[in-house]
Amino acid sequence: MAAKRGPAPRRGILDIAPYVPGTSALPGAHPVIKLSSNETPFGPSLRAVEAYLGAGASLSRYPDGSARPLREALAKVHGLDADRIVCGAGSDELLNLLAHAYLGPGDEAIYSEHGFLVYKIAILARGATPVAAPETDLTTSVDAILARVTDATRLVFIANPNNPTGTYLTFDEVKRLRAGLPDDVLLVLDAAYAEYVRRNDYEAGIELVATTHNTVMTRTFSKIYGLASLRLGWAYCPPEVAGALNRIRGPFNVSGPAIAAGMAALEDQTHVQLQAEHTEMWRGRMAEAFEQLGLGVTPSAANFLLLHFPQGHGHSAREADEFLHERRIILRRVEEYGFPHALRMTIGTVADNRAVLDALASFMGADGAAPA
Ligand SMILES: Cc1ncc(COP(=O)(O)O)c(C=O)c1O
Repeated sequence: MAAKRGPAPRRGILDIAPYVPGTSALPGAHPVIKLSSNETPFGPSLRAVEAYLGAGASLSRYPDGSARPLREALAKVHGLDADRIVCGAGSDELLNLLAHAYLGPGDEAIYSEHGFLVYKIAILARGATPVAAPETDLTTSVDAILARVTDATRLVFIANPNNPTGTYLTFDEVKRLRAGLPDDVLLVLDAAYAEYVRRNDYEAGIELVATTHNTVMTRTFSKIYGLASLRLGWAYCPPEVAGALNRIRGPFNVSGPAIAAGMAALEDQTHVQLQAEHTEMWRGRMAEAFEQLGLGVTPSAANFLLLHFPQGHGHSAREADEFLHERRIILRRVEEYGFPHALRMTIGTVADNRAVLDALASFMGADGAAPA
């Protein structure tokens, strides 16, 4: 009898390299310093935790299907039109829904060479063709993207700032990109780290979404709002794009506890501000200290730093990673982003940051030389 063949996924699905999250635990019971996923080390606002616990009383009820109370709260905080906001189970869901709505076999979508890995997966999952545009100085290159536009291009994904580099595009550059793209190409500005950026020449995307009919901005509650485990993100869209996403998303894609916690988190902007200030100060201090140890550091506008290690034996990124694990410190390996000689470190608490600096000073043979 012929061997049974079960259902096969669509052509190409099994060729997709699965997304591998950063290491989150080490063997043994001792606590770890986990700086591998760009989460906030301070946790969410206590108001969000209270709201989450309060939502426990209504777990038997479906949530508001369009997350209306949360969309209205977002609209108020950011000065937006609530009808143009679509919420999702993390911004990952929204990135995938955008690909689902706008891409199919034969279409092309462009992202930058070291861009967030989810883009390529979302594009391939639709049977479309991913096109990587080379970067300049580890920064998205508008010219390289525009040079790769063809008649088949339907969508461009940009993380601004980008993960894992931390580099960003100025508003002028984003506008130049939009102006150079054909009218029927959707530009997706993924601003997962927008709250951490302290640059006058940066704009997360709200203005372009408001003034064009073909640009979307995605945001997340996973980073500065500290709600990564709840899975909550949102997109600000032209009305037609919101209409498309609302047709294909799950009817209750955001849970009641996530809506409640998100609304409460938005009310606590002091919590957001304090973290942004902490991150800005430590990002600068850490970058300087790492450079003094002989590491390369990509200038970052986000809550993490990409650290470049010497390539020879003895001080390589892989050896540094092992050395740090022995000290119960977890950074992010970034080989699959095209950086075999780098590690990405999320800015942590003062104690976390000092622990990493001390450990890397020992690793680089500069004991006692960690100045921050
Ligand atoms: C650039 C970028 N976009 C989106 C996300 C996904 O965030 P979420 O937790 O909202 O799905 C991440 C998470 O690491 C990210 O780095």
